[in-house]
Amino acid sequence: MRQVRIFDTTLRDGEQSPGASMNVEEKVQLAKQLTRLGVDIIEAGFAISSQGDFDAIKRIGDEVNGPVVASLARCREPDIKKAFEALRDAPKKRIHTFHSTSDIHLKYQYRIDREEALKRSVEMVRYARSLVEDVEFSPMDATRTDPAYLAQVVEAVIDAGASTVNIPDTVGYAIPAEFAELIGYLTKNVKNMDRAVISVHCHNDLGLAVANSLAAVAAGAGQVECTINGIGERAGNSSLEEIVMALRTRRDFFQADTNINTEEIIRTSRLVTKITGISVQPNKAIVGANAFAHESGIHQDGLLKEKTTYEIIRPESIGLHSTKLVLGKHSGRHAFKTRLKELGHELTPEEFEVAFDRFKHLADQKKEIYEEDIETLISEQMAKAPEVYSLVDMSIASGIGQAPTATVKLKVNDDLVDRMSRGDGPVDATYKAIAEITKTKSTLKRFEVKSITGGMDALGEVSVVVEEGDRTVRGHGADTDIIIAAAKAYINALNKLAQKKKS
Ligand code: KIV
Ligand code: ZN
Repeated sequence: MRQVRIFDTTLRDGEQSPGASMNVEEKVQLAKQLTRLGVDIIEAGFAISSQGDFDAIKRIGDEVNGPVVASLARCREPDIKKAFEALRDAPKKRIHTFHSTSDIHLKYQYRIDREEALKRSVEMVRYARSLVEDVEFSPMDATRTDPAYLAQVVEAVIDAGASTVNIPDTVGYAIPAEFAELIGYLTKNVKNMDRAVISVHCHNDLGLAVANSLAAVAAGAGQVECTINGIGERAGNSSLEEIVMALRTRRDFFQADTNINTEEIIRTSRLVTKITGISVQPNKAIVGANAFAHESGIHQDGLLKEKTTYEIIRPESIGLHSTKLVLGKHSGRHAFKTRLKELGHELTPEEFEVAFDRFKHLADQKKEIYEEDIETLISEQMAKAPEVYSLVDMSIASGIGQAPTATVKLKVNDDLVDRMSRGDGPVDATYKAIAEITKTKSTLKRFEVKSITGGMDALGEVSVVVEEGDRTVRGHGADTDIIIAAAKAYINALNKLAQKKKS
C-alpha cells in the first residue's frame, strides 16, 4: 500500500480565509492537535509576512514533536532567510518556496519573462537548499502554465535540490481528468522526477478541490496539501478529512493510504471551528452535523438490520461517539488528570492547577460533565490572551416590561472598576457596561451562542468578532450562564485586541 503524505496548511493557507486569523497561542494549540492527528507536515506560516507568523513558526518548531514543520517563502533571499531563522531550532524543517509560472502571472503581476522566472526559481531553491536539507518548490498557477515550460521548471528545481515539487491549482481552475493528465505528463516528461515527491495543492473555486487531489493521487502524486474543514483562500482548499477518509474507505481503488489517526478528525475539526469561528455546514462530508444522520425511513430500516446497508464510514472511526459522561462533582484530581490524558492534553503542573479549579467550579454548576465540556474548558484556558481586563463580578436585572440593567466589575490592570448600564437586552446592557469600563472604540461584528452539550444545565458557548480599524479579533467564552459566557467572550476579544495593538 502506497503511503500518501499529508501536508496540512490550515495554519497558512487556511488562515488566509477571510476573518480566520489566529494568534500564536491558538496556532500552537492547533499544531499540537495536528500532531495527534498524525499529519506528516505542518505548514506553520509565512515567516516574513508578520512577526506573529514568525513567532508561531518558531514556537511550533520548538514545541511540536513529530511532523516536519514548514514555512512558506517567496523566491526572494530575505524571505528564505527569514523562514530559516524561524525554523532554525526545529528538529525537522522544510522551506517551501514558490514562484508563479503561468504567462498570465508573469506578464501582469511579475512583469518578467519565463526565462527570468526559471532563473529565480532555480537560484532560490539552491539558496534554500544551502540552509536546509528539505526544500519544496511550488510553480504557482501551475494548472494555467504551459505544460512543457512547467516540466522544464520542475526538472530544473529538482536539479537545484528540491525534494518535493508541489503542483498548485492556485485559482481552482482544473478538472479532475485534466489534472490527473498533467501529473501523468510530468511523471513521464521530467527526467529526474523520481528524485522528488510530486505534491498537489488544490483550491475549491469550482467545488473540485478534493476531486482534483484524489485524481492526482490516482495518477501517482505522493503528497496532498489540504486544510481542516477545507478552510482557505476564497472558496478554500482541499479538505483534509475528505481526502483522508476517501483514501481510507477506498483503499481498494487507490491502493494508497495515509498516516492519519482518523479518530482525531472530529476533535480537530471542532478545534478549528472554535479557534477560527468558521462553522462547518451541516451537510459537509465527514464532519458536518448531518454527515451520519439518517432521516429516511427506508434507510433507518436498513441500518437497524445491518449498518453497512447505508453506512460506508463508521462514525467512531472519525472519533464520533455518543456523548460520553466523563466526570462529576465528586471526581478528584487523579480522575481529572487521567481523563485529560485520554483526551490528549498534556498540561504543565501550573496549567493543570488552573484547569482543575475551573473544572471544580463547573462541577458545582453542572451535575454531569461531558468530554465536550472538558474540551471547551481546556481550549478556553489555552487560547487565553494575556489579560488586561478580567471579569470580577457581574449581575443582571431583566424581565418582561422591565428595562434590562447590568452591573459589571472588571479588573483593569491592577484596578477594580465597575459600571451599571441599561440596554435593549441583558447582553446589550452587559456589553455597554464593559465598553464603558474599557473605553473601547471597537465594534461588535458578530455574536453567536451555542450549547456545548444537551440538557438544561449545559455549558453555553459564545463567540464574538470584534473589529477596530484594520484589526479583527475573535473572542470565546463559556459558562452555564449565557450572559456570563457573553461577557467572557467580549472581554477575551478585547484582551486580544489590546495584545494586537502592542505587537
Ligand atoms: O495556492 C497556491 O498556489 C499557494 C502556493 C503558495 C502553494 O498557496
Ligand atoms: Zn493555496
